Amino acid sequence: MRSTPGWQADGAGLRQTVLRRRELRPDDVAVRVDYCGVCHTDLHAVRTHSGEAPLVPGHEFTGVVTDLGREATRFASGDPVAVGNIVDSCGECAMCRAGQENFCHEFPTLTYGGTDRHDGTSTLGAFSREYVVRDEFAYPLPAGLDPAAAAPLLCAGITVWEPLRALGAGPGTRVAVAGLGGLGHLAVKLAVALGADTTVVSRSAGKADDARRLGAHDLIVSADQRQMAAARDRFDVVIDTIAVPHDVSPYLGLVALDGTLSHVGHLGAVTVQATDLLIGRKKLSSAGSGGRPATAAMLEFCAEHGITADIELLPSARVNEALERLERNDVRYRFVLDLSDLPENR
Ligand SMILES: NC(=O)c1ccc[n+]([C@@H]2O[C@H](COP(=O)([O-])OP(=O)(O)OC[C@H]3O[C@@H](n4cnc5c(N)ncnc54)[C@H](OP(=O)(O)O)[C@@H]3O)[C@@H](O)[C@H]2O)c1
Ligand SMILES: [Zn+2]
Ligand SMILES: [Zn+2]
Repeated sequence: MRSTPGWQADGAGLRQTVLRRRELRPDDVAVRVDYCGVCHTDLHAVRTHSGEAPLVPGHEFTGVVTDLGREATRFASGDPVAVGNIVDSCGECAMCRAGQENFCHEFPTLTYGGTDRHDGTSTLGAFSREYVVRDEFAYPLPAGLDPAAAAPLLCAGITVWEPLRALGAGPGTRVAVAGLGGLGHLAVKLAVALGADTTVVSRSAGKADDARRLGAHDLIVSADQRQMAAARDRFDVVIDTIAVPHDVSPYLGLVALDGTLSHVGHLGAVTVQATDLLIGRKKLSSAGSGGRPATAAMLEFCAEHGITADIELLPSARVNEALERLERNDVRYRFVLDLSDLPENR
């Protein structure tokens, strides 16, 4: 087994410990983790952690290949790479064959909190100095993308990219992004770069200047019923990234005739009034992460358009502070941990 320092859940927070990683299998690469974004999913995971299996969060990271299995031919030592929240899948089901490994019928192996398909161990995330991953699930990091600010593309970015693409966001379409956080701000940048007329829906007007700076044309205050009513039936695509359970009815109200609300933020039960769909033949959808082809395409698109996340970079020793501030919605718009403060692998 390999050993690497990392941050493991311990009660309400994370503490530094030494993790065990598998020795490289033939199709594995070892990645020195340089930067890892802090996703709201990490916060959910830490706050609801039962303590049964060890929890090391972190599922959007960039780094450098340091070691290769004998069949891992896609990379060379020293290559900059990016890895997201899926690290394996069956490779054979209809979804995998369609390049939608994120929907693998056998369930994709998640970067942390998943079960390794070969040895049955629980996967440990990238709030650590080294990660071992099947080479097919590591992506070349395009030159020109800042590796720290690019890390959030691998979860937040791809999670909004797939529905934007699938729902045809582009010139002539109107897109609304509900919740201007990690996912939301990247949804705005991507929708704008795709050519869509883009609007932010936020709880207050406090992020209006940021919304415009990100390229949005407008900001609607969700708490203001007059503004919400004025925007009725306006958007072909609404990407709802709100991190808490909420009534979807006001957001369905924003959807245009035959348009779609993609509910990607809160992944629990949703109650829907059929009439909210009936009136306007509206569609309710969801999405999560991305397949390998879409992830590679998103990275190329971001390189071409100079898109990365707006980040606050912190040494990984401040991870608990990052989680607490994320909980208070006190980040514009993504914390990224710099893992170089961890000791060398032992
Ligand atoms: N589908 C997937 O695969 C996937 C992938 C990654 C994350 N997620 C989930 O997506 C959600 C967003 O993640 P994130 O990392 O973008 O989180 P985030 O940075 O905390 O942003 C969430 C945004 O939701 C809004 N919000 C927060 N609390 C709210 C409340 N009480 N009422 C109404 N709005 C509230 C805020 O926007 P305003 O201040 O603008 O109102 C906030 O900026 C999380 O639940 C996360 O677990 C899903
Ligand atoms: Zn995430
Ligand atoms: Zn599969």
